[in-house]
Amino acid sequence: MPLRRVGILTGGGDCSGLNAVIRAITRAAIIQHNATVIGIEDGFEGLIFDRRCELDIKSTREILPLGGTILGTSNKGNPFEYREFDDKGQIVVHDYSERSVKNFKKMMLDCLFVVGGEGTLMISHEFFKRGLPVIGVPKTIDNDLEGTDYTFGFQTAVQVACDALDRLQTTGKSHERVMILEVMGRHAGWIALESGIAGGAHIILIPEIPYNLDLVMDKIKLRAAGGSPFSIIVVAEGAKPVGGGEVITHEAGKTLQGVVRLGGVGNTIASQIACNIDLEVRCTVLGHIQRGGTPNAFDRVLGTRLGSYAVQAAAEGKFGHMVSLNTPDITLAPMENLAGKVRLVPPTSQLVQCAEAIGICMGR
Ligand code: F6P
Repeated sequence: MPLRRVGILTGGGDCSGLNAVIRAITRAAIIQHNATVIGIEDGFEGLIFDRRCELDIKSTREILPLGGTILGTSNKGNPFEYREFDDKGQIVVHDYSERSVKNFKKMMLDCLFVVGGEGTLMISHEFFKRGLPVIGVPKTIDNDLEGTDYTFGFQTAVQVACDALDRLQTTGKSHERVMILEVMGRHAGWIALESGIAGGAHIILIPEIPYNLDLVMDKIKLRAAGGSPFSIIVVAEGAKPVGGGEVITHEAGKTLQGVVRLGGVGNTIASQIACNIDLEVRCTVLGHIQRGGTPNAFDRVLGTRLGSYAVQAAAEGKFGHMVSLNTPDITLAPMENLAGKVRLVPPTSQLVQCAEAIGICMGR
């Protein structure tokens, strides 16, 4: 089908590689179809409030190595359940979905490319069910989306965490300390597991394998007894102790959208270990450093492949699908099979077995 005018929006938390996708969609839509490309600003907020700009080859030049998204993003703009504070400080919820559909029609788009994680893709699927020609492009540093081998942004985040571990190794060894690195990932342990293996961690704690603190202590003591009185621990922000403890949440608690902010498990474990051993313990919380900055080569290539294939899928009328990496190819997955599902680390996976085979303690 002819692609005369297409729209792109980036929704949810940002990650490295978003601009590679925006650039690839813009270039492929213009070069292959001579289309006009409209960038919708700040995620779905741009659709609700009709905020947009035109993108072309010139305006997407030099953005490939740029972190973040030139379109802006928001994780507070769900058009079906838009929350804001009224004058009295009370939360009010609006359904702006009709208004968004009207704005979409006003923009006269043949296709809307939505680049986002689980939440954003779920919203896109709702719009598809209401007749909008949507193609999804999966992104998240958490790498927890079903239907794709990897999401772009993940490998860059792993590299950032690995670089941090290289630095913690040298200072930890010099001071003979237990060094803890808390990484992101929400309820998935992919970043912790891959960065921990790459960065030579001695202990890796992930949400999918509840940890036994006694076993963590045993590992630290064993290393000390063997002449290495320093240990490196990577802990995913969603890790929980064995016995059904709750995930630890940020002091600021829930966001306006009711999403719980994770964080704090690293410092909790640090105090628990420090009470039990004659070694100093320090914790570093890596936070949003994992999300910002220039994408690595893998994420640039993946973002570019997903973006260009998304345009091809739109031209073939494959709406309601998400482009995905099905190694070595980029293929399509129906969004209805993906919405609301997360892909966690299987505790018996080869990657976990590999970590344990080389002596990494997974807290079990
Ligand atoms: O989903 C991506 C992610 O970075 C998670 O790893 C993390 O828990 C969350 O977003 C942080 O969200 P926010 O940017 O709202 O603090």
